[in-house]
Amino acid sequence: MCPRERDMSYKIVKKQPLNPEITLMKIEAPLIAAKAKAGQFIILRVDEKGERIPLTVAETDKNAGTVTIIYQKVGATTLQLDSLNEGESLHDFVGPLGAPTHIEGLKKVAVVGGGLGCAIAYPIAKALHEQGAEVHLIAGFRTKDLIIIEDMMRNASSHLYLCTDDGSFGFSGFVTDQLKELIEAGNQYDEVFAIGPLPMMKFVCRLTKQHNIKTTVSMNPIMVDGTGMCGCCRVEVGGETLFACVDGPDFNADLVDWDDLAHRQASYKAEETASIKHHEEACACQK
Ligand SMILES: Cc1cc2nc3c(=O)[nH]c(=O)nc-3n(C[C@H](O)[C@H](O)[C@H](O)COP(=O)(O)OP(=O)(O)OC[C@H]3O[C@@H](n4cnc5c(N)ncnc54)[C@H](O)[C@@H]3O)c2cc1C
Ligand code: FES
Repeated sequence: MCPRERDMSYKIVKKQPLNPEITLMKIEAPLIAAKAKAGQFIILRVDEKGERIPLTVAETDKNAGTVTIIYQKVGATTLQLDSLNEGESLHDFVGPLGAPTHIEGLKKVAVVGGGLGCAIAYPIAKALHEQGAEVHLIAGFRTKDLIIIEDMMRNASSHLYLCTDDGSFGFSGFVTDQLKELIEAGNQYDEVFAIGPLPMMKFVCRLTKQHNIKTTVSMNPIMVDGTGMCGCCRVEVGGETLFACVDGPDFNADLVDWDDLAHRQASYKAEETASIKHHEEACACQK
């Protein structure tokens, strides 16, 4: 990060709820907007005492100097973030962090997103589409009302395959079922990218392994510093201990230790519950 970036105000220039759980925000951060590539993320703090949380750079606008983030309200910090409005500012907004996604030379790919994972998959699909690859974007949601960024995804792909678990819109079934159909129809993908809940990524990986298709997944372990110093985001990949914040967040799906990852993600459940309770109590006091 350039030190000058600290002087910016990180003003929220746009806030748009996408569904009851997910919100899009555009933040003024011209230096990050100028540099960020697909697959990278930022770490923000809402206020001076706030927790640092990583969020993917969904989109940048170099001319306007803005960075788009799309977040799901899952706990204290994302709820606190969501309490801010257009015109207000974030305390810190650091990035771009992480290694950009390797997209060079790919001609035909499937990009698979599940729920909020679609917001993280979107910039990867967009970058591949812009470099001329044929992009099949498979986006899965529980139900029709939860579908987000449909137009953005359509513009970032050669073909958008929308799926709903309950069959209320598009393909009825899981993203893995849609991907299986496409593979069995003869589509030969150079690579598959899968981003979403751990079980979804695990099942995509199981399917693509049967067809010998290289698969990349985006790991989102809990992070603290985002610079490889604290060790909080370590993941076991191919028997090696790597740090998702500097070696990732993308990893070869075949090499990921899914059980270890699931175990680590559940490690702070008690603290996270306490933190939401604290946030709700603080909100109630201010009313
Ligand atoms: C590289 C990276 C990119 C990410 N990009 C996005 C993004 O673009 N949009 C978005 O909404 N979220 C993204 N996340 C996840 C996001 O950082 C967490 O949702 C956030 O830190 C939760 O903070 P909280 O205080 O609101 O909730 P917490 O109280 O910390 O957690 C509440 C719930 O969310 C789960 N959770 C917490 N952290 C994570 C995590 N890292 N991954 C999965 N589940 C988690 C907890 O297990 C718990 O169930 C990303 C994470 C990483 C590591
Ligand atoms: S977040 Fe600290 S090492 Fe990755």
